[in-house]
Formats: sequence, structure tokens, C-alpha cells
Amino acid sequence: MLSDVLLVSAPGKVILHGEHAVVHGKVALAVALNLRTFLQLQPHSSGKVSLNLPNIGIKRAWDVARLQLLDMSFLEQGDPTVPILEKLEKLKEVADFPEDCTDHERLAVLAFLYLYLCICRKQRWTAEDLELINKWAFQGEKVIHGNPSGVDNAVSTWGGALRYQQGKISSLKRPPALKILLINTKVPRSTKALVLNVRNRLLKFPKIVAPLLTSINAISLECERVLEEMATAVPAPEHYLALEELIDMNQHHLNALGVGHTSLDQLCQVTMAHGLHSKLTGAGGGGCGITLLRPDLTGPEVEAVKQALTGCGFDCWETSIGAPGVSVHTAASLDAPVWQALDGLCAGQWASSS
Ligand code: PMV
Repeated sequence: MLSDVLLVSAPGKVILHGEHAVVHGKVALAVALNLRTFLQLQPHSSGKVSLNLPNIGIKRAWDVARLQLLDMSFLEQGDPTVPILEKLEKLKEVADFPEDCTDHERLAVLAFLYLYLCICRKQRWTAEDLELINKWAFQGEKVIHGNPSGVDNAVSTWGGALRYQQGKISSLKRPPALKILLINTKVPRSTKALVLNVRNRLLKFPKIVAPLLTSINAISLECERVLEEMATAVPAPEHYLALEELIDMNQHHLNALGVGHTSLDQLCQVTMAHGLHSKLTGAGGGGCGITLLRPDLTGPEVEAVKQALTGCGFDCWETSIGAPGVSVHTAASLDAPVWQALDGLCAGQWASSS
């Protein structure tokens, strides 16, 4: 039973290198950002469980007594943690979506309801709990993306900088605190569709696309080597030059995979006009890009590029890599259930009648 407000957070993340290739068993380098999503969990006596995701304009509430009366045995079918299609179809009836609900909103609500209804064990924050949080966050990713690699939930759970390949995670020791710009083009895209397009292109042109994926793998490994060298020696201009070249090569490969977008081309051109190198991060097709900020840049130089980007209609954040993973900020009760797993999914707050 929760007795107090619980505030938790998890970092946003970017993939430095390896997006899409990671879905095909290659290496990805992912880092946690000093930009966090906060989740507030608050008990109340309304008899309702309410979900409030202000960033995406979602406010929903369900009657707890009604939820308890419904037959939820379908959630136990097969592996109880895996959100297979049949379970999600039945869950849509429980969610009771209004007609004007967008797909984006439906998926966010569905991920919440799925995890809310499935997670019931009480846990502490041990290494095992983090595994559990990561596992549940992965299931939430499955609801939204279909066939995720697992890199996103892993880096938001453990934070820092991770090398990820086929579920095997290793942390980079002492990653340099690189500064980057995270830029949102605000062009909506479906990760699921983009991942599928890459798969189809790989099936259609295996001799062309497989070497691209192998080359992206080599870029991730080279980036890891440079970052480790930067951690052990004093970072030198050559290190940044190498990182910039890797960014450019990967961006071209991602375009060749078909996940570029005119907004991302514009982003790269605008930053290049200021001598800075950028690539898309994540699924592409719009979405977000990252720009490496070399340490020699002055404040006014950074401001100028930020202004140029916002002038294109993009949102822009200056941040650094290697932030801590999922964290509790107000530990009302260490016996609290692992609702924290939702943190990586829900940019907002929700209240539960517990
Ligand atoms: O767009 P995002 O931030 O969800 O990242 C997707 C990354 C992919 O490699 C394209 C897919 C995945 O599951 O790893």
C-alpha cells in the first residue's frame, strides 16, 4: 500500500550509433541524457485510477471497482509478461477509447493500462528490480513498437553509456561528458513502420543493405574505442574530429537505409553551416537528431546554432550524455510496487487509488 506521493524519474536517451542495425543483431551505442521524464504517483480516494500525461495531452480515468469486476484472465495467457496481439485487442475494450483518440494516444494509454494491470508484485530497488523494471519497460516498448531491440529501455533503466547487442549490455566505464544538442524536428513518424521498411529493403537488396549494417556496426565499435580513449587520456581535438567523421558517415548510411527525411537533411545543413556535425537518432523519418558540441565552442556560437534551428521550427535542447538511470526522488515507501517501470513510458503523472 502506498502511503505518500512517490516521485521518480528516468533519463531520456539518444542512440549515438547503431539504430536500425541493432534490430539486426549489430552493436548500438546508447547514452542517457541529462533530460529526464518525471513520474508522480499519488494515492487518492476517488475510487479511480487516473492517468495524466500532460506532454501529450492525455487525461483519462478508470473506475477501479469496474476494472476489478472485469475478467482479466486473458492477461495470464502464455508468458504473462508478453503483450501478444490478442491481449492488446481485449485490452482495447477495457480502455474504452473515445472516437477522436489518435493512434499515438491509444498506444500510450494501452501501454499504461497493460503495465498497470500486469504489475502487482512488491519490490525493492535492487539489481534484480532494475532487471524487472527493464523487462517491463521492454514490454511497454513492444506494445508501441512491435519488435524493439531493447536498447531504449536498457539505457533508460541503467543510464550512463551502454554498448548493446542482442540483449547483451556492457557499460562504458567513465564515458566523457560530451555536450550535444538534441533537436526535435517535430515531424511525426512510426518507429514500427520504419523498422519494417529497413527489413524489407534488407530482404530486397541483401548484398547492398547487409554491408551497410556491418559498416554501422563498425562505426559503433570505433565510436566506443574513441570514447574509451577520451576517458583514459586528455580528450584532444583529434578525438572530436573522429567523432564528427563517424557521425557524418553514419548519417549517410542511415539515408541509404531509407530512414532519412528532408527535415533531418535541413537539420544537418543548418548545423554544418555553423561547422557542426549532426545525425538522426532513433528511428529517423523525422523525429530527433543530435549535434556534437565541441568543447572549443563559445556560448554565443552555441546560441547562434540553437537560434538557427529554432528558426526552422525545431525544438532544441543543450544537454550532456551519461546521466543516471531510473531513480527515485521521494522514497515514500521502499515497499512501493514497481510502478516506476512506467517512468520510461509516461511523460507525466498518474494517480492510483491504492
Ligand atoms: O525512435 P526511437 O527512439 O524509439 O529508437 C528506435 C531505435 C531503432 O533501432 C530504430 C529500433 C530499436 O528498437 O532499436
